[in-house]
Amino acid sequence: MSNQNDPLFQPHHLGELALPNRILMSPLTRSRSSQPGDIPNDMNARYYQQRASAGLILSEATQVSPQGKGYAFTPGIHSQEQIEGWKKVTGAVHMAGGRIHMQLWHVGRISHPDLQPNGEKPVAPSAIKPEGAKTFISADSGMVDIPEPRALEIAEMTDIVEQYRQGALNAKEAGFDGVEVHAANGYLLDQFIKSGSNHRTDEYGGSVENRLRLPLMVVEAVIDVWGKDKVGVRVSPTGSFNAMDDDNPAETFGTFARHLNDLGIAYIEVVEDSFQGNHANGRPEEVIDAIRAGFKGTYIANGAYTADEARKRIDEGRCDLVTFGRPFIANPDLPERFRQNAPLNDWDDSTFYGGDEHGYTDYPTLIELEKSA
Ligand code: PHB
Repeated sequence: MSNQNDPLFQPHHLGELALPNRILMSPLTRSRSSQPGDIPNDMNARYYQQRASAGLILSEATQVSPQGKGYAFTPGIHSQEQIEGWKKVTGAVHMAGGRIHMQLWHVGRISHPDLQPNGEKPVAPSAIKPEGAKTFISADSGMVDIPEPRALEIAEMTDIVEQYRQGALNAKEAGFDGVEVHAANGYLLDQFIKSGSNHRTDEYGGSVENRLRLPLMVVEAVIDVWGKDKVGVRVSPTGSFNAMDDDNPAETFGTFARHLNDLGIAYIEVVEDSFQGNHANGRPEEVIDAIRAGFKGTYIANGAYTADEARKRIDEGRCDLVTFGRPFIANPDLPERFRQNAPLNDWDDSTFYGGDEHGYTDYPTLIELEKSA
């Protein structure tokens, strides 16, 4: 196929942002911020800069507040030092001609008192322990169980919204091109959305509309800061990671999609599997249909896509753009590899989380491989 006709290399407009290709980099937790303070550093800037040929980079999940932190070594966007650190990242990506959104994150119950301000319990819509979910609290803690959280009081909802608003403001100061609200993978907003984790009986729980209330308040606050064209939302309707389930994902996420359409955001990114590529039973087409019916903006598909599956789904009108995770970890020049149909470097999952340059900035590009051959 000539590149001219390759669906992956058709440009796409995301609001004012002109994307040169449809090969996006997924948000990927890599747990390599500088300590103390969870501050992005020069090594992080190099890693993102190496991947600047992506149509758009979505940053790793970044906590909007100390309360929103769930794992050791993930970066934040709530201190001036963190803002300065992220400026290195956005500057490096822009210098290389790329574009980058920040993913705004509050983990809710997926945390641990040892990671929380004053050793408090993590917060959630309801005091339900995520059975089997784990986190790590320090370099030598290993994976630890997550305890029962405490249910947020109604009066605290505006504070949650303000945490996101401040995160959005800080991301702007740090030089990002836009933001993605993380409402997926069992973190705070997903915990509100899904029936399995939200047993509230007030206006923030029960009906679908009530479960969507806080997530929509957050999206509105972020739009206030950025304008609707520069805001996206990530969802994982059929995700089971972090002990999640919903009794009717098509209805729940179809309704969310309609509301997000009314708010006019730029895109929805949909994790189309249970987690990390597990789509053994196919993609959840009924849920995808419901989201596509409700949302007329850009639809970004995610979930262990190959280049050819991405081409096919774009051709068929099932998605507009595709985010690639693990292939982008191992192939900084992923778009060029897809362009040439070149072989891909394998990823090393032992270096996904934490550590140094190894398994982070030392994956070779095609050009580097040719030179060393
Ligand atoms: C993780 O650290 O395992 C993690 C973080 C954010 C996600 C998914 C997984 O969305």
